[in-house]
Amino acid sequence: MIVEPKIRGFICTTSHPIGCAKNVAEQIAYVKSKPAIDGTKKALIIGSSTGYGLATRIAAAFGCGAATIGVAYERPAQLKRTATAGWYNTAAFQKQALDDGLYAKSIMGDAFSKETKDKTIELIKRDLGSVDLVVYSLAAPRRTVDSGKTYSSVIKPIGKAYTGKTIDMNTHKLSTATVEPATEEEIEGTIKVMGGEDWRLWIEALKGAGVLAQGAITLAYSYIGPEITHAIYADGTIGMAKKDLEKTAKDITDLLAPINGKAYVSVNKAVVTQASSAIPAVPLYTSILFKVMKKLGIHEGCIEQMYRMFAEKLYVPKTIVDESGRIRLDDFELRDDVQKEVSRIWNSVNDSNLEEVADVRGYWDDFYRLFGFGIDGVNYEADVDIETEIPGLV
Ligand code: NAI
Repeated sequence: MIVEPKIRGFICTTSHPIGCAKNVAEQIAYVKSKPAIDGTKKALIIGSSTGYGLATRIAAAFGCGAATIGVAYERPAQLKRTATAGWYNTAAFQKQALDDGLYAKSIMGDAFSKETKDKTIELIKRDLGSVDLVVYSLAAPRRTVDSGKTYSSVIKPIGKAYTGKTIDMNTHKLSTATVEPATEEEIEGTIKVMGGEDWRLWIEALKGAGVLAQGAITLAYSYIGPEITHAIYADGTIGMAKKDLEKTAKDITDLLAPINGKAYVSVNKAVVTQASSAIPAVPLYTSILFKVMKKLGIHEGCIEQMYRMFAEKLYVPKTIVDESGRIRLDDFELRDDVQKEVSRIWNSVNDSNLEEVADVRGYWDDFYRLFGFGIDGVNYEADVDIETEIPGLV
């Protein structure tokens, strides 16, 4: 079948198996080109198939030589429908890891469920005995709790409506978006889905089963961003969930005290992922940020950051954290010179200078790449088999 991108709103409903595999191969090659890291030996990555979770898994496996177990929620191909990008990414990761003699297994299931937690624990017990690193990198629209109730996550401001500049995902032009404030129920739902509760449940389950190694570390990811996105992000529903995540890191650190373990939140940089393109203002901010950071030679994607996190922040004699105990990979993004230039552009951007002052092209290139499109060396006119098996799928 010839696979072409089919965009609906801010998602692409098709993915290219060879493009996704190439994308993963490029991230692996990046890590292999860097010095090896004396870090994790056995890692569990929850949300391992795309974005930051996938990059963390690649850095753990190919940078540290770690055995990895990945948990994700992805769908295989069905008839003429391609698999999701995360499915193809996982297949490519597993294949390369196994070819390199690394232990790698993946579980496809709902990470919020007890069933997936139990299955993961069984696998760790059977194959690895314990893990020394647990990365929680979920970005999900909803969560069904064990009682059967479903909560939804929304990206909305709190208190008053937000009106701001954005890029229209259909026309790619500048537009204004207005988002009404969240209800109490929506705030609660977003905290339930994207806050720390399920992270804590995972750690309690893993610790209870005795599968966390002495000194185990657990990480979850957050974003803060600059003033211009605060109303919609940091001070909005998702920001509330992230505050809950930070509070949970402290609770988990207490929980892990008997085994000398520690929980960290790592604040990462804005990148294009499936989750982030849904946030109003963020595509425009990200395009401007890319322009500025590329010009300064400090632009990073997920893989560069995750390698840097392991090599320079976490697996060093003393973990490098800010005054609140967080790892900061948004340090380059929030540099004064970067943000001054971003705000100057933000205030002067208009329809006629958009392409010139913002890296809209780079934004869209990254967006298409998420689904395996627009990647050098891939023949998109060729017939491809869309059915891909994941070796090491449990
Ligand atoms: P993503 O959408 O690329 O990845 C989400 C992962 O979660 C995928 O592996 C997906 O399969 C998995 N997943 C979703 N629902 C699941 C479920 N019910 N069960 C099992 N797996 C499930 O997202 P991204 O952007 O990498 O986000 C990961 C974390 O990084 C989030 O906490 C996000 O807030 C944070 N972050 C993202 C930034 C960005 O610019 N994208 C910036 C800073 C932090």
